[in-house]
Amino acid sequence: MNTISISRRQFARLLGAGAAVAAVRPALSLAVTPPTTPVTPPAAGATVVRLSSNENPYGPSTKALKSMTDAFGIACRYPDAQAEALVEALAKLNGVSGDQILLGDGSSEILKLCAVTFTGAMTNEKPAGRGNLVAADPTFEAILAYAKVRGAETVKVPLNASFGHDLAKMGAAAKEGLVYICNPNNPTASITPKNELRDFIEKTPRETMILVDEAYFHYADSADYESVIPLIKDHPNLLVARTFSKIFGMAGLRCGYCVAQKETIERMRPHQMWDSVNVMALVAAKSNLEDPDQLANGRRWNSEARSFVIGELDKMGHKQIPSQANFIMFDLKRPVVPVIKALKERNVQVGRLFPALPNHMRLTIGKKAEMEAFLAAFRQVMA
Ligand SMILES: Cc1ncc(COP(=O)(O)O)c(C=O)c1O
Repeated sequence: MNTISISRRQFARLLGAGAAVAAVRPALSLAVTPPTTPVTPPAAGATVVRLSSNENPYGPSTKALKSMTDAFGIACRYPDAQAEALVEALAKLNGVSGDQILLGDGSSEILKLCAVTFTGAMTNEKPAGRGNLVAADPTFEAILAYAKVRGAETVKVPLNASFGHDLAKMGAAAKEGLVYICNPNNPTASITPKNELRDFIEKTPRETMILVDEAYFHYADSADYESVIPLIKDHPNLLVARTFSKIFGMAGLRCGYCVAQKETIERMRPHQMWDSVNVMALVAAKSNLEDPDQLANGRRWNSEARSFVIGELDKMGHKQIPSQANFIMFDLKRPVVPVIKALKERNVQVGRLFPALPNHMRLTIGKKAEMEAFLAAFRQVMA
């Protein structure tokens, strides 16, 4: 039977996947807010298993939740004092001064500001300090879209055989402008080794800006991985983006930040909207930083659920790219799009198509019960 084309009703009669999705419901209702994005067609009373956006299903720390409740009384005020307090905490955490931190409405705003500030159309009148955007393929695509809106040329350089960034080719393709390095990389969950990245940063001319997106920094534990924030002091063309959307569980609250030299931040700031981060996100982010359990639990729970699903996929013969993040990418050995669709019909959402790897699926690591629900539906679809 072609399980991809079976109807919802037929599917409901099948044992296994249906039962597994139902089994995940109580766990979800305890700590996960039901997703607001409806799946088509939504089954009455069905719960969506959302493994599509690399979110942390456990959410922010209880301290962060409390500080948001406490902040209701200041919701009528502009968030200057809370922004200042978070900047101060982030500066201390990263060993830099406050004027080297720029907060963003999620790290998406930082990516956009980088595209706006450092990329632009390659004409004779090209404003100084702007040029093309060079990014890997596949990578997190948002910045490519932002640079295109600027009229900038965008260059995609395929990842190398180990799914790291091909830094030599990326450097050669750069025309001033901006090189975007996502490390660990979304969607492959792979890393670019620290020595290669350090070397690239050393060699790159100062006219070319380098943005290292460390959204998944906290999940990476390879000896070959490191943050490049300590290199910023010697490199005016280096920027690092971080987010509270991943291990800090605040994707819906929207808070991220950039670390760079003061002069670099000053080039970006005029392009930013005033007060772009709201007071709830600011107080939650600060409390999250102060709760040591948030990182330890996030890493442990991710690693346990990831090992579980990897073990099951191994048994099914689906080889994964070694993961240093809260998601995995694995080879389906068939086009991913119909499988994404068939899973969605079973209320399981997984990552979108990444055209450079059309037979690979990106799967976010959720709670164990969610991974069980995924596996049950996946087995049905692949049978
Ligand atoms: C690598 C990477 N960077 C940035 C973002 C944007 O995250 P946010 O705007 O929520 O901080 C994402 C979101 O998935 C991502 O994967």
